Amino acid sequence: MSEEPGRTTRRFLTPPFRQVHQHLRTSMENLGMTVHVDAVGNLRGLWIPAVAPGKRLILGSHIDTVPDAGAFDGVLGVVLALELVESAKLLELPLSLEVIAFSEEEGARFGFPFIGSRAVAGRFDTSMFANKDGDGISIRKAIENFGLDLEKLEDAVADRQAAGFIEIHIEQGPVLEAEALSVAAVTSIVGQTRLDLKFIGHANHAGTTPMHLRHDAIAAAAEWITKVEALAVKSEGLVATVGKLAVQPNAGNVIPGLAELSLDVRHVHDSVRRAAVDDLVEQAQAIATRRGLLLEWTTKMEEPSVPMDERLTALMTTAIESAGFPVKTMSSGAGHDAMIMAGRMSTAMLFLRSPGGLSHHPDESVREEDVEAALRVGEKFLQRLSAEFG
Ligand code: HGY
Ligand code: MN
Ligand code: MN
Repeated sequence: MSEEPGRTTRRFLTPPFRQVHQHLRTSMENLGMTVHVDAVGNLRGLWIPAVAPGKRLILGSHIDTVPDAGAFDGVLGVVLALELVESAKLLELPLSLEVIAFSEEEGARFGFPFIGSRAVAGRFDTSMFANKDGDGISIRKAIENFGLDLEKLEDAVADRQAAGFIEIHIEQGPVLEAEALSVAAVTSIVGQTRLDLKFIGHANHAGTTPMHLRHDAIAAAAEWITKVEALAVKSEGLVATVGKLAVQPNAGNVIPGLAELSLDVRHVHDSVRRAAVDDLVEQAQAIATRRGLLLEWTTKMEEPSVPMDERLTALMTTAIESAGFPVKTMSSGAGHDAMIMAGRMSTAMLFLRSPGGLSHHPDESVREEDVEAALRVGEKFLQRLSAEFG
């Protein structure tokens, strides 16, 4: 279910969302869940047992993807959550379960991530809906075009009194494979900053303009990108990425007048991340000034490192052990909806091994044995959690 043939690309509220919603809605309804789509396109299924509904636990992950994605980042967590609803029903657990397929986590369409979980966590400011995609469509317009009603945004906010939020997700990195482990409990999610920057130079003729008279936007951007990489390479635990680069007028015989770039910086310590971002912006400004260009930049997103809930994470490690797997805990270098939901309720995550440590790539995969392990651990977790509610 993709925007384009031969690749998996499923950005916020694009046409393939209707297919995914229909597919998951059918699964939810077959489980006896009541289903609705909220104001920002999150698909939400609710199971309330007739006897002893207990407290409500929320499970889920995102169904949007990066361009040319794998098949598991996000959506696997939604499908596994629905499997766990079936287990909870069979085990007759005194637990209400809400499964949320978040509509937007990656930021791939608007450069602004976590739209789905921000709505559920009540962490939105109306200015965010003005962000525009490459076609000039705003988040607000995309929501209206999909037939949703932003006036109902408040209804999307989850009750703080919920038993918590649990996200099952592929690790997207090399750790579990290196340690030959199926699963791990996540202790924290590293903070991240995402910027958009513009090096504004001066387009001119490639043949007649002497080198010393140029204000070449790509040359400036290229010089800066090597500084981004150099800073991250020498800074323990820091990762920094320029993932997007757009050039105007993008013609071989024209000195480029404009280079638009993204910057993604992450570190487990917020002070280190923030200092690195300040350093890199200063270096960009110095390069622009020396070369006679202008620099513009905006912060698209800044999220602090988020610890997972200790009690739920301890329950998760106990569930891993009682399911017969070695106990492993680790922090997440990837961002997740859990980092937003943690601001609203107790939140924990379970990772599955990523073969090859590969993700955000069409060859992203999972092993069936690890999916089975995640389901076994999830069942033990639900049993132990519901036992607490008596
Ligand atoms: O970028 C991330 O960390 C996540 O995959 N959205
Ligand atoms: Mn992702
Ligand atoms: Mn993800």
